[in-house]
Amino acid sequence: MAAAEPDSKPFFSLESYHVSEELGFILADPLQELPPYYQPWMDIALRVPELVHSHELRFHVNKMPQLSSQFLQKHRELRLAHLALSMMTMGYMWQEGENNTVKMLPHNLAVPFWEVSQRLGLPPILTHADAVLANWRKKDPEGPFDMENLEVLVSLPGGDSTRGFFLVTLLVEMAAVPALRNIPTVINGVRCGDAETVARALEVISQSLQDMTDKLKLMQVYVEPSVFYGIMRIYLSGWKDNPCMPKGLVYEGVQDEPMEYSGGSAAQSSLLHCFDELLGVKHEAKSGAFLTRMRNYMPPAHKLLTQDISLQPSLKRFVQQQASERLNQAFQHCVTKLLALRSYHINVVSRFITVPAARARQLRNQNQELEGEMISRAPTALEERGTGGSGIMIFLKTVRDQTKGTLLPETSQ
Ligand code: HEM
Repeated sequence: MAAAEPDSKPFFSLESYHVSEELGFILADPLQELPPYYQPWMDIALRVPELVHSHELRFHVNKMPQLSSQFLQKHRELRLAHLALSMMTMGYMWQEGENNTVKMLPHNLAVPFWEVSQRLGLPPILTHADAVLANWRKKDPEGPFDMENLEVLVSLPGGDSTRGFFLVTLLVEMAAVPALRNIPTVINGVRCGDAETVARALEVISQSLQDMTDKLKLMQVYVEPSVFYGIMRIYLSGWKDNPCMPKGLVYEGVQDEPMEYSGGSAAQSSLLHCFDELLGVKHEAKSGAFLTRMRNYMPPAHKLLTQDISLQPSLKRFVQQQASERLNQAFQHCVTKLLALRSYHINVVSRFITVPAARARQLRNQNQELEGEMISRAPTALEERGTGGSGIMIFLKTVRDQTKGTLLPETSQ
């Protein structure tokens, strides 16, 4: 059969999902300033690392004026407000480490944070959509989208490593854009039975997955494991299944009962959710439930995209029905690249969490506070659960193994 020209428009397109052709899920041109009325928020948000360091952030937040969120109008204003309020919240919660936690977020922060979150359909906590997707600017607007020319807007303690962590993750998002662009081509190609077009689009997706892995490799260049483990990680932690805050957090002026929210993680990035749905990766019950829950931490339009991809005719079945060697190979290649990305990610987690955690335990046992002070003082509650520890490895390996299970059975030739 002659191959039709690839055409993603007639049926399935990314247009209605707030996904840009150039930037994918990344927010285009994030605002750097809010209307002047909100200056008290920005004044504190931009100083979070410094105020946490001097143990003054809670003091400054407590005397911040109660501002109404009603003067925020545009989507990008709301995104910057969410970013600023969420960074302040993380600093406020973890200013004194895991020991001296507070049970309540004060109303002057909690109420506007809640309102802005409601309007965006995001939870009232720092998410990947804040720290990565809406937290960048180009130093030279005409310059390239690379490490040297990018800067974060708002940061957390951890200096260059924190900047590196957010920006490398942003580069991974950017590397995925060609893959995202080709998702509609695959879906529409399957719908019209066009094996060649589907194969070609899958080849682009494979390359893009490889590029994502290559960008992920920059993590070890720009992020210091002891800083990540000993300093940064706690500021990304949430108040769900967290022994430091077993009941969650009361948002004063919003609700008397405490509420539980997970911390920020790239598990909240819509990328792998989309690729899993496209390729038909079936997750095991427990890890699948976690990943599904993470979709509630995505901008609603992006969450909808992951769901709508899952409703499309099965790509894998299509590949199996077509007797096309190229299509078979393209599909296998894609799954293999996704598998390689997850395997490399496990490597990263080992380097940034498992190894420093073991070192911290060893140092604590030997009472060697001075040597590697940073990691030995790292929060212990996070070691075995949440954003760290062996539970994490079991989870990540289960997800990887399920990805492997998506490969087509070897055909005897
Ligand atoms: C220092 C760098 C990183 C560390 C230490 C790290 C750590 C983790 C941890 C502990 C989890 C388990 C779930 C959780 O606790 O939320 C996780 C999940 C995940 N991370 Fe990362 N991560 C890093 C960078 C990245 C980057 C740059 C990406 C790509 C955008 C990414 C993508 C994912 C995904 C998709 C999951 C969900 C599991 C899966 O689908 O395979 N991570 N990560």
